[in-house]
Amino acid sequence: MKPRVFITRPISEKPLAMIDAECEMEVWTGKTPPPIREKIAELDGLLTYGHEPVTAEIMDSAPKLKVIANVGVGYDHIDVTAATERGISVGHTPGVLSETTADLAFALLLAAARNVVRGDRFIRGGQWKGYNPNLLWGAEVNGSTLGIIGLGRIGRAVARRARGFDMTVLYHDCDRLPEWEERLAVQYVSLEDLLSQSDFVTIHTPLTRQTRHLIGRKELARMRNTAVLINTARGPVVDSKALYEALRDGVIAGAGLDVFEHEPLSTDDPLLTLDNVAVCPHLGSATVKTRTKMGVMAAENLLAGLKGRPLPYPVNPEACERKR
Ligand code: DGY
Repeated sequence: MKPRVFITRPISEKPLAMIDAECEMEVWTGKTPPPIREKIAELDGLLTYGHEPVTAEIMDSAPKLKVIANVGVGYDHIDVTAATERGISVGHTPGVLSETTADLAFALLLAAARNVVRGDRFIRGGQWKGYNPNLLWGAEVNGSTLGIIGLGRIGRAVARRARGFDMTVLYHDCDRLPEWEERLAVQYVSLEDLLSQSDFVTIHTPLTRQTRHLIGRKELARMRNTAVLINTARGPVVDSKALYEALRDGVIAGAGLDVFEHEPLSTDDPLLTLDNVAVCPHLGSATVKTRTKMGVMAAENLLAGLKGRPLPYPVNPEACERKR
């Protein structure tokens, strides 16, 4: 009998074919969140494509479950400790999405600095009455100072892009990375110094107990009032209420956000009343090429786990945060 697998959202054809060849699979195509809880009792494998929580309680109703394969690098929605205790392997898709996510971080940085979204809204709103040299002056990106919080794969990809803009790059991480300091010409500083010395601060840490609300009222107050905050990592790393107030009160100048403390961001969220915020709906790795590769890696993890083999891309919760 083929192993039974549930896939929480449609994935690309290639990984789907890999799984279909070896498993009895169901792909959730509904508009409502995937009913993992209802399906789990019968499953040998679960492929998560989205951030629905997979808790210890859910795992307790899954006597046959061997593997959870996540399409994505972040796995804060999966209780990995509970999985390990129950002998369930957990895999993710590190590395493949780093460059793509760094592209989006830079897109948001440029958009927020140079009023790209605000300018678009200005024209669509019928407010453009002719060339006005005093209109929407932004912040200079080239030659400025970028602070990277979390010099993992994505943070390093952002640092490489910053070199093309002649930026001075500071970083903060759980410990120093002398090899990368030399290779990328980046300088280690304390979080406090990074916040006070940077024109742009970009977040690239995973969400853990240590990083939840890493950036709150106190940290925002340390930033320059001309500075811009970029977050393409996980929303809860930033205290969203404190961020809203800092943006509203001019404590910082702007933000470019791909992730939010509560997703999806509600249309009546106070952040959306502010003109100095550029937002995206969690698109960090969303390109055809990258999402297809992520699907293939997740399928490889799933198939290995079903056969009781070591996963090619296992999660490693013990690793220092930067390695993710
Ligand atoms: C990631 O890779 O962590 C993205 O947020 C998608 O889950």
